[in-house]
Amino acid sequence: MSDIETSAAGPARRGEPLPAHLLDDAERMTRQEVRDLQLKRLRQTLQHAYDNVELYRKKFDQADVRPEDCRTLEDLARFPFTTKADLRETYPFGMFAVPMSEVRRIHASSGTTGRPTVVGYTENDLSTWADLIARSIRAAGGRPGHKVHISYGYGLFTGGLGAHYGAERAGCTVIPASGGMTARQVQIIRDFEPDIIMVTPSYMLTLLDEFERQGVDPRSTSLKVGIFGAEPWSEEMRREIEERMDIHAVDIYGLSEVMGPGVAQECVETKDGLHVWEDHFLPEIVDPVTDDVLADGASGELVLTSLTKEALPVIRYRTRDLTRLLPGTARTGFRRIEKVTGRCDDMIILRGVNVFPTQIEEVVLRTPGVAPHFQIRLGTRGRMDHMTVRVEAQPDAGAGQRESAARAIAQGVKDGVGVSVDVEIVDPETLERSLGKLRRVKDERGV
Ligand code: DLL
Repeated sequence: MSDIETSAAGPARRGEPLPAHLLDDAERMTRQEVRDLQLKRLRQTLQHAYDNVELYRKKFDQADVRPEDCRTLEDLARFPFTTKADLRETYPFGMFAVPMSEVRRIHASSGTTGRPTVVGYTENDLSTWADLIARSIRAAGGRPGHKVHISYGYGLFTGGLGAHYGAERAGCTVIPASGGMTARQVQIIRDFEPDIIMVTPSYMLTLLDEFERQGVDPRSTSLKVGIFGAEPWSEEMRREIEERMDIHAVDIYGLSEVMGPGVAQECVETKDGLHVWEDHFLPEIVDPVTDDVLADGASGELVLTSLTKEALPVIRYRTRDLTRLLPGTARTGFRRIEKVTGRCDDMIILRGVNVFPTQIEEVVLRTPGVAPHFQIRLGTRGRMDHMTVRVEAQPDAGAGQRESAARAIAQGVKDGVGVSVDVEIVDPETLERSLGKLRRVKDERGV
């Protein structure tokens, strides 16, 4: 383990940088070369969208802009946004920009309400996706010949198949475990000895408990790297997983509407946010309320434009994810996004204070005597909204330790987030476990 650095969450171990011969050509580009490539590809994408998708043609016409009006990257701000609602309204295939005969695969994201959003890929799109996942795996520390255990769900969700073809493209050996059947997953990890695991962080915790149930020290497995994404997770969670498993835990970001996993990836040698693969995606940050484009460094909603997609070009897609843009470090041609700690729609406004589940996670994970399993319940007391944080006790925690953990969590949330919450310490193994993406918040207001 090369370098040690102390962050707010404690010492972070870093991995080895990628040897230069394993970098893609695009990863060696200067910032200016990346920008030049982006402008060329952006103009092509705008034209492709305008020519082939009725919804884009209508929206551009209404906003009185044409693809040829985009002469600099900054001109993109003149073009209209695209939202999940646009995809829902054109359900299922109305935003496809190529004939169905050219679409090789369809994925869909269920979302929480309404119709799923449907996305499609041409052969070139699938190839680009595999390339970008392969690049992401290398950035995470993966090398040709490594075995990759994939516990992202296979199916319409982009996690499983997206990771699968990328790992093959990286020259790795894939173990397509998919989600669920936790006891068997642990057995497979023990027997097949993978180097890398790709899984949601919350399901990793479920697997970790199963290791311990089977009497296996998770630090003794063959795993060296975990590539975690598909849901927000905190620096405390990184530390928890790294310590309990003796692996590097790095972050992968993506969303089905824009491609799937592999839009941005954290490099194991810096672990300082995720480099956006800017040769294929153009990120902007906007104020979620005023829609104004914000300068690099300012926090807001991430908006993404695809630069090479054929089947489903997306122009200024409102991700609802909150982050900020920072200059590149391990890859200087690309900018980074700060770890996405929440979505606009996950933000709980409790008596006027904005609260994200990841902030609660940070407090719970640094408190002794409790397990990293918690749930947030929202209810009303009188006319006021009220939050209860339910946390599982460690099996060996006695009554006294449970009480002091409850007090420490309530105080930690009050000091760090600025709201008063009730904390209930519940028995071990009583809260719902993740099998993929975990929904932490139970909203019982108005029920
Ligand atoms: O979750 C794609 C994916 C699969 C990404 C596997 C990473 C790994 P969707 O189901 O469309 O796609 O959900 C996308 O999940 O807008 C974020 O809110 C959230 N999300 C994805 N990755 C991260 C991450 C996949 N690393 C939505 N950190 C996104 C925080 C994430 N949130």
